[in-house]
Amino acid sequence: MIVGVLKEPIAGENRVAATPESVKQLVGEGLKVTVQKGAGVAAGYPDDAYKDAGATIAATVDPGKLDVLAHVRPLAPATIKKLKKGAITMGLASPASETAAVKALKAQKVTSFALELVPRISRAQSMDALTSQALVAGYRCVMEASIRLPRFFPLYMTAAGTVPPATVLVLGAGVAGLQAIATAKRLGAKVNAYDVRSASADEVRSMGGTFIELDLDVAADGAGGYAKELAADRVKRQQELLTPYVTAADVIITTAAIPGRPAPRLITAKMMKDMKPGSVVIDLAAETGGNVEGSKPGTDVSVTVGKSGGKVTLVGMKDVPSAMAFDASRLYAKNVSNLLTLMTKDKKVSPDFEDEVVAGACLTHDGEIRHEPTAEALAKPATTKKGSK
Ligand code: NAI
Repeated sequence: MIVGVLKEPIAGENRVAATPESVKQLVGEGLKVTVQKGAGVAAGYPDDAYKDAGATIAATVDPGKLDVLAHVRPLAPATIKKLKKGAITMGLASPASETAAVKALKAQKVTSFALELVPRISRAQSMDALTSQALVAGYRCVMEASIRLPRFFPLYMTAAGTVPPATVLVLGAGVAGLQAIATAKRLGAKVNAYDVRSASADEVRSMGGTFIELDLDVAADGAGGYAKELAADRVKRQQELLTPYVTAADVIITTAAIPGRPAPRLITAKMMKDMKPGSVVIDLAAETGGNVEGSKPGTDVSVTVGKSGGKVTLVGMKDVPSAMAFDASRLYAKNVSNLLTLMTKDKKVSPDFEDEVVAGACLTHDGEIRHEPTAEALAKPATTKKGSK
């Protein structure tokens, strides 16, 4: 069976769905791997390395000849239409927003696996791309803050005097937030962190952060270990209680998310008004609505604070794992090859839908949408504007 890897077509996406290491794994399973010429170059993986690992390099790859197509970003409907019936796709699919692609996968009778849907259970950790890419993002946020901050992160005691450590505030302590805490700690900062989930206090402490307890008087634990959206009055209360921590921080990193919902608003412009000039706010959720008022994806916004007209840099993060494409691809490709290996028997990829990881990750199969929330969302009649026919 042939597994194909194309160059990612979206501008700004440097990652690739296979690396020489993951190719070796797939070839070891008895699969043939075809990599489009130059597919890994932007991530730092040259064609020769794929060839040495056992892949065939092709100037052009016809999707219609592939049994499996591994990808990073959601596939374009035009590419899906070229796939043969029964082909398998594996990659990020954003089913809530990429509805045209989901419809095309269904119509083409493609068996698609969306890496976002891999169940978050221990056995599936090696296939969990949300986790691997959030780890990259959390680390990168701290790096982005450190190069903009006109201060050290660690304490320095020098002949010329003592420099106190920077205070870092991390809001949202999921995978990305915990990685941000660990990275800022390694750099020597004092780290405070907060999350609404009850389990997060211990997780924050295990990374060396100080957990901020806020009396919100609400249980925000949702299904599957995720957080629930807060009611409007709790959002306001949370903002009030967080304000002194915002004011005291040299660096703020926000990573809060609710699955399928816009990012919760944790910091308003008003909350930033007493921040120290020169401080840096990094909003990892800028692309999904923003945890911080005024953040713009891919842009640094200069926010005026205090009466002196001092400035805080508000950084809207965008395409973060792609900025560290070598290691982000290394982890992502391994997630893909591990999921494919799970499905491979006797040199054939034949998904066993009795397996909860396989069944959970399946988006479409044989003309059906297998992921219920996506099927329900697509079954709803399109909303028409008032007055339109
Ligand atoms: P995520 O990216 O969906 O959200 C990031 C964080 O934002 C979460 O910790 C969430 O609680 C927090 N958040 C949401 N609203 C907030 C608010 N108003 N204020 C402050 N924080 C807020 O989360 P991620 O990183 O995907 O993790 C979700 C869950 O999955 C966690 O419980 C995590 O431990 C679990 N998990 C389990 C794995 C496994 O067992 N294989 C692997 C990775 C994660």
